[in-house]
Amino acid sequence: MKLITDIAQHHRRTYGPEDVMIKSPGRANIIGEHTDYNDGFVLPFAIDKAIYMLVNKSKTNSSEIHAYNINQTESFTDKNETSFCRYFSAVIQSFKNRSLSVSSYNVTFGGDLPIGAGVSSSSAISCGFVAAINDIEAHDLSKIEMLEIAVEAERGVGVEGGIMDQFSIINGKSAFALCLDCRDNSWSEIPCKLGNYTFCLINTGVEHNLAETEYNTRARTCAEALRMIMDRDGEVSGFRDISFNHLSYLELPHRNRVEHVITENQRVMEAIQALETDDIIALGEILSASHVSLRDKYEVSCPESDYIVDYLTGQEYAMGSRMMGGGFGGSVIAIIKTEQLDKTIEPLTELYKQRFEKEIHYFPVSPEQGLTVITV
Ligand code: GLA
Repeated sequence: MKLITDIAQHHRRTYGPEDVMIKSPGRANIIGEHTDYNDGFVLPFAIDKAIYMLVNKSKTNSSEIHAYNINQTESFTDKNETSFCRYFSAVIQSFKNRSLSVSSYNVTFGGDLPIGAGVSSSSAISCGFVAAINDIEAHDLSKIEMLEIAVEAERGVGVEGGIMDQFSIINGKSAFALCLDCRDNSWSEIPCKLGNYTFCLINTGVEHNLAETEYNTRARTCAEALRMIMDRDGEVSGFRDISFNHLSYLELPHRNRVEHVITENQRVMEAIQALETDDIIALGEILSASHVSLRDKYEVSCPESDYIVDYLTGQEYAMGSRMMGGGFGGSVIAIIKTEQLDKTIEPLTELYKQRFEKEIHYFPVSPEQGLTVITV
C-alpha cells in the first residue's frame, strides 16, 4: 500500500491530480503455453502483483511518462520506438487507427510486478493505458475492444503474440482461472482451489524480451506447418483441426512444434479436470509433462528454467513445475505445499547462485481480480 501511495503522491506533485488511476495486474498461466496464437486453449489467471498507473490529460501536445520504479522520465509527441515509451505510443497509435479520439497524457506508472520475469509486465502497461484512455475519453469500450486495442499495440512493438496475457489481465477474477479457447475467444471460469498447496512463481532472473527471442520464429514455423497440412488435407481449416495423423506430413522442426501444440491442448483439458476433482497430484504431473514438451519439442526453455524444474522434481513437497510464458527465461510456475514453500525453495537459492551466479526470487500467486480503476 505504501508503494501505491508513493506512486500517487509523486504523480500529483509532478502533474497535479490524476484523471484516473488504474491497477493493472500481471498474469500467471497454469498451462497452455504457445497455444494461444495457434487457436488453442490456455488456462491463465491475473495475479496480485500489478502496475499502478496514474494518468491525466496533458495541456501540451506531448506525452510525458514517468517510470517510478527506475525514476526515469521520457516524453514523445508522435511515435516513440525506444524505451518504455514505445508501449504508450503504440497504444495511442492503435486508438488512432480506430479513429477513436485521443490526446496527449501525463503518466506515472510503477508497482511490484517484476519486469522481464515472464509475468506480462508489458501487457499490464499496455492494458492499463488502454483502460485509462478509455476512461478519460469516455469511449465506453467493451472488454473485448480494449483487448483488441492492447493486442494491436503490442504487435506494433514487434511481438507476434497471442491474446492470453491481455485477456487474463482484463478479465481476471479472484479465485478463478480462465479457460480461453483462442479459436473463437469463448471462455469459462474454472474454480481454482489448491487446498494445502499453492502456485509459486520462481523468477530465473533471465530477462527476456520476446521481440528479440525466437518467439516470433516459433509462431512463423507453426503458421508454415498449418499451411503445409492444409495443402494436403482440405478438411483442415485451422490449427485445431490438426491431429496426430497429420504429423507424418511434416519434417523437423515443424513436426515437433505441432506435436507440442496438440499435446498441450490436451493437457489444458486434463488440468481442468484435475482442478475440478481437486487432484493436485495429477495437476502437478500435467505441469511437469508440459515442461518436457516445451523443452524438447517446442525448444523454448533455457538452462536456468530446466535447472529449477529438475531440482523441484526431486522435492517431496513440490508436485510439479514448468517454465511459464514465452520462454527463454522468465519464471517457472510450481505447485508446492504452502507450509513447506520456504523449506522447499531455500536450498535451491544457494545452489542456483553457485551454478548461474544469479539470484532467484519466488513468490506464491493465486487468481485475483483483473484490471480495475482504483482510488487512493
Ligand atoms: C507470451 C505471449 C502470449 C503467449 C505466451 C506463450 O507470454 O505474450 O501471448 O503466446 O508467450 O504461451
